[in-house]
Amino acid sequence: MVIILVGGQWGDEGKGKVIDFLAAKAQMVIRSQGGNNAGHTVITEDGEFKFQLIPSGILYPACTCIIGNGVVVDPIVLLRELSQLKERGIQPKNLMVSERAHMVMRYHPLFDRLEEDARGDDRLGTTWRGIGPAYADKIRRIGFRIGDLQKEGFMRKKLAFVVGQVKNPILTKLYDAEAYDWESMLEEYMGYAKQLDPYIKDTFPIIQDALDSGANILLEGAQATMLDLDFGTYPYVTSSNPTAGGALTGSGIAPTKVDLTIGVFKAYASRVGYGPFPSELLDGVGDQIRERGHEFGTVTGRPRRIGWFDSAVARYAVRINGVGRAALMRLDILDEQPLLKICTAYDFRGELHHHPLANISHYKHCTPIYEEMPGWETPIGSARCWEDLPSRCRDYIERIGELIGAPIDLIGTGPRRDQFVTRGPKLFD
Ligand code: GDP
Ligand code: IMO
Ligand code: MG
Repeated sequence: MVIILVGGQWGDEGKGKVIDFLAAKAQMVIRSQGGNNAGHTVITEDGEFKFQLIPSGILYPACTCIIGNGVVVDPIVLLRELSQLKERGIQPKNLMVSERAHMVMRYHPLFDRLEEDARGDDRLGTTWRGIGPAYADKIRRIGFRIGDLQKEGFMRKKLAFVVGQVKNPILTKLYDAEAYDWESMLEEYMGYAKQLDPYIKDTFPIIQDALDSGANILLEGAQATMLDLDFGTYPYVTSSNPTAGGALTGSGIAPTKVDLTIGVFKAYASRVGYGPFPSELLDGVGDQIRERGHEFGTVTGRPRRIGWFDSAVARYAVRINGVGRAALMRLDILDEQPLLKICTAYDFRGELHHHPLANISHYKHCTPIYEEMPGWETPIGSARCWEDLPSRCRDYIERIGELIGAPIDLIGTGPRRDQFVTRGPKLFD
């Protein structure tokens, strides 16, 4: 069985926890887009793990974990993540990196910062990890692929051109910054090559053999639908396609092989960085949820913006990704709220819109339309089955399922592995 897992809002929905749950029965977990802008948290008996590049299935030794061709890999970060895992007694023998995956090069985070600074008040609020510049170079066909590390002569020639003739002139002439010495970069990257060599593979036959054998394969989405380069709030998006289509191009799996797409949503909404957020809470309720939910970015530590659940956004995610079953996470964070609101549409100059707008400047003239529901005001952290949940909590979940058009079968009631309520047919059986 092949399952694609996607984020349904603006990221940090709790994908890591759902992936950890599914990976227990998966033979393969594949990351297919994004890079170390992602931060996926998994909490086990051994403590908390925050995965940025390494697939969140790595804690299961029997599960093959693949960093797919669509990911942009910063080798420095990957090596750091590997050594952190080893320090915690986890030997990532089951990890592979596609030789087709592009690299975030030493200069990409610098360009990310310089470009953000140049935008001034219009900055996007990126993670400064060099993700946008790395994808831009991939598309300009001046990117370096992980497999290039295994070809020193090729690396030498290409660094001389890309760094010497493309990057350095821009750095020195446009940004008044220092040039890179591409020869010392060659030495540096050859060092990474040696350390990463055991993990670099042509993952095509490995993934295809797994498909042919009927293995359970999970495609681990990073970021989310509203950060999608095409369907998100452009330009306040990431530079990849976190929607279901991106999972296919980023792994080399055909659409006909996919059995199910699971959408992961947070019981409210959050966003890091700038850009439209129609249901944003700028009052004390937003502060309460942020504090109770420790809503500070996994990657950058920035406070996350908080808002009410927006079913116009979530239904859009369900339709774009073909979500068949949904996860609703972090419900426990709403335990103390006496009144809950769900944004169902936007009133744009007297006209109701039930899906996100393509023209983001229209959001300035939009009023969100809310439905109100009473809160359950009871702790749900110990609920283990549907019947354990307070009836008002069940009503909230069912109403969201109705509004978004997908059954909510996975329910997060706390950060721990066991704080999970599931219903409906078993997954990966
Ligand atoms: P991801 O990027 O979608 O994987 O999400 P993050 O890991 O960035 O952020 C989600 C946070 O919520 C992490 O700290 C998780 O440990 C935590 N989390 C996941 N599910 C739940 C839940 O149901 N309740 C609570 N309280 N925390 C959760
Ligand atoms: P996970 O996988 C939340 C946001 C950044 C910024 C925008 C562009 O943990 O859900 P980028 O560095 O990608 O060019 O930044 O996208 N962003 C995320 N927000 N969760 C993420 O990943 C994100 N990855 C990128 O904050 O607004
Ligand atoms: Mg995250």
